Amino acid sequence: MSKSVVKRIGVLTSGGDCAGLNAVIRAVVSRAVRAYGMEVYGISDGSLGLMSRPLQYQKLDLSVFSGTVLRMGGTMLGTTNKGDPFAFPMPDGTLQDRSQDFVDGVRELGLDALLVIGGDGSLGILKRLCRQGNIPMIGIPKTIDNDVPFTESAVGFNSAVRVCVDALDHLQPTAASHHRVMICEMMGRDAGHIALHSGIAGGADVILIPEIPYSLDAVVEKLRAVHDEGRRHGLVVVAEGVRMEDGNSATMRMADGQRRYGGIGLYLSEALAERMDTETRVTVLGHVQRGGTPSATDRVLASAFGVHAVDLAARGRFGRMVAWRDRGVMDVSIDDIVAVGARQLDPRDPLVHTARGLGTYVGDL
Ligand code: F6P
Repeated sequence: MSKSVVKRIGVLTSGGDCAGLNAVIRAVVSRAVRAYGMEVYGISDGSLGLMSRPLQYQKLDLSVFSGTVLRMGGTMLGTTNKGDPFAFPMPDGTLQDRSQDFVDGVRELGLDALLVIGGDGSLGILKRLCRQGNIPMIGIPKTIDNDVPFTESAVGFNSAVRVCVDALDHLQPTAASHHRVMICEMMGRDAGHIALHSGIAGGADVILIPEIPYSLDAVVEKLRAVHDEGRRHGLVVVAEGVRMEDGNSATMRMADGQRRYGGIGLYLSEALAERMDTETRVTVLGHVQRGGTPSATDRVLASAFGVHAVDLAARGRFGRMVAWRDRGVMDVSIDDIVAVGARQLDPRDPLVHTARGLGTYVGDL
């Protein structure tokens, strides 16, 4: 067993869940306990577990090797994508800075370092918190949106794409049977990574992503061309962050008052119905994309990330985020991640060229 000054680490999941988070936790525990004899504390519900009194956490041991954890969707620790400790929503409707509660929680638990599994937003908030408390931190990127910069992949993306491609495989036969255009709305926030990958793999005729402007006339033209080629059905993939022709986003108000993307599929369906005779139907995949068992690719990524993150902690290399590049795991500065922010798709991405090469309409840029 190797010696490390880091004896006790905390691990938490933050932001929206996705498939593969438990696989990361499993890898962290395995490496920390087996290689370095560290103690690992799993923090409940992201930063909330360290802000609550009593603290909410569980000690993690090699029982995470039960055989099921690797395969389980979601996160065994729980997570949150609201409740920024710097502007924490209080019951009376005000926002309060509760960052010191978090810092005190880390001290109370006696953590030498914190491993944060999160997207770029969570990593930014956690970095601020850790800086305030002088808490050594390592980041591990996860998000179905795949918009964390400086890593080719974040945990959860590949599994989400798998769900989307499965959905397109299910939609195509019914589209063909009824001679319809099926519109499939996919998540991804302001990035089109999920839509582009899934649309190519699922044989979409049209892929609309937030990063590339489109015109309804061009969508109609493409679908008519498909019909003229002898196929009487079509598949349209649209990312949730795509704007309507007037430039506004399609959003919905949730029960808690927050707004989320949603509705661009329905908008397209109505717009196409006005311009074409072909019937259209809309499928909104929503949170189905976040659930289910992680794909093999995500399990491998999660495992490589977990092991490397613990190795960084053991070597005292803090302020780093593990990343995947050129078929291997490496690490980058969290400061750089936060400075760059969410990584949208580059309209010159080679996969845009691939899609166009297949005859797919991907917008006009
Ligand atoms: O960031 C992940 C994500 O699933 C986005 O793709 C989506 O827009 C958002 O989270 C949904 O958030 P919520 O789970 O709060 O509805």
